[in-house]
Amino acid sequence: MHEETIGNVMITQDEILAKAGEIGKKITEEFKGEEIVLVGILRGAVLWMADIMKRIELDMTIDFMAVSSYGSATKSSGIVKINKDLDTDIEGKNVIIVEDIVDSGVTLNYLVGYFQSRGAKVIKICALLDKPEGRRVDIEVDYIGFTVDDRFIVGYGLDYDQKYRNLPYITYLEE
Ligand code: IMP
Ligand code: MG
Repeated sequence: MHEETIGNVMITQDEILAKAGEIGKKITEEFKGEEIVLVGILRGAVLWMADIMKRIELDMTIDFMAVSSYGSATKSSGIVKINKDLDTDIEGKNVIIVEDIVDSGVTLNYLVGYFQSRGAKVIKICALLDKPEGRRVDIEVDYIGFTVDDRFIVGYGLDYDQKYRNLPYITYLEE
């Protein structure tokens, strides 16, 4: 049984799907005539990745990475470790990183540096959620679904202790 309680629905699935349509259209226009590689960050980005990829009308491939940033259940420490690397050679490619949430920015900052070192031509970030109050490193997020305030968010891929990823909406943990 869950010991924590979750709050009200903050963002519905319909709102997320509409946003995926908008962002997918934007990416399609910006990369017209080019190929892209979408890199989903496991596991949180899985639902958002599925929504966004259907709405991009370009030649594309997909890949996934799994990273962990050490810390407590709700705060990251700043140290990033790769648990599953890319299977794709991204040298000279247009890469769009698909992430669930940008909080401190540490994970994405690390990933952008990593993709640069692997020779990516263009690196963009597409995040379902942005939590600007959590930011510790300066990072430019190119495509943002929704901005949230400084709460611990769960649902639609985002977990607390690996739970709640299956909720078909975005909510938060009650204090
Ligand atoms: P960072 O602090 O920007 O490096 O965030 C790294 C990761 O922490 C994200 O990819 C999420 O998996 C996780 N995370 C950050 N904030 C939340 C949250 O509010 N709920 C669930 N996971 C979060
Ligand atoms: Mg995550």
